Amino acid sequence: MGSAIIPTFPKHDPASPAFWDVRFDAAFTPWDQGGVPQSLVDYITQIPAPKKVLIPGCGSAHEVRFFAGLGWDVTAIDFSPAAVARAKQLLGELGSHVRKADFFGDALGKERFSTVYERAFLCALPKSLWPAWAARIALLIPPDGRLTGFFFFDNNEKGPPFGIARAELVELLSPHFDLIEESVPTDSIAVFAGKERWQVWQRRA
Ligand SMILES: C[S@@+](CC[C@H](N)C(=O)[O-])C[C@H]1O[C@@H](n2cnc3c(N)ncnc32)[C@H](O)[C@@H]1O
Repeated sequence: MGSAIIPTFPKHDPASPAFWDVRFDAAFTPWDQGGVPQSLVDYITQIPAPKKVLIPGCGSAHEVRFFAGLGWDVTAIDFSPAAVARAKQLLGELGSHVRKADFFGDALGKERFSTVYERAFLCALPKSLWPAWAARIALLIPPDGRLTGFFFFDNNEKGPPFGIARAELVELLSPHFDLIEESVPTDSIAVFAGKERWQVWQRRA
């Protein structure tokens, strides 16, 4: 993803784990916030009772410690072995919350999540996968559940990050979700600054 000095990597499809493995192995992760974004802290601390959350494409999974500390039932998945290794190394005992799994595969079985937390996952996916992403999100979140997190708005062709047009995100999610909250993050990192929004989407029945 964007940065002033970009190391050279072998050509891989961002839809394959290898694309991400080489970057985690080289410790080149310019998308990594290195902690928990403030918008997530502000939102979660208003929720009265802990819920069950999925973090797809979790990368270093900094948010796992935060959710677990508040009593949430947290599952983080990533299909890159190097990302999972990094997350487990950072999380110590809490590393058991992180699983190597493809979001589009069947590893989650019939598990459903009252919250799915999105950060830098949709924009990591080639645009051709966006409709499948939206369908799977709607399947994983039962009525009354929520999709919460950060969305990267841009009209760039080259990525990742692959920016989405606001109208396209609405088109993907509006068959099953209503947008109920939106704000500008105060602590965006350089690659997303000025182009990301915190949003909360409520699943309809
Ligand atoms: C840009 S990184 C974001 C990581 C993390 N969410 C963060 O905010 O730092 C995108 C992550 O999504 C993972 N990923 C991409 N496609 C995936 C898929 N189909 N299933 C699971 N993980 C996937 C990559 O391995 C990578 O770790």
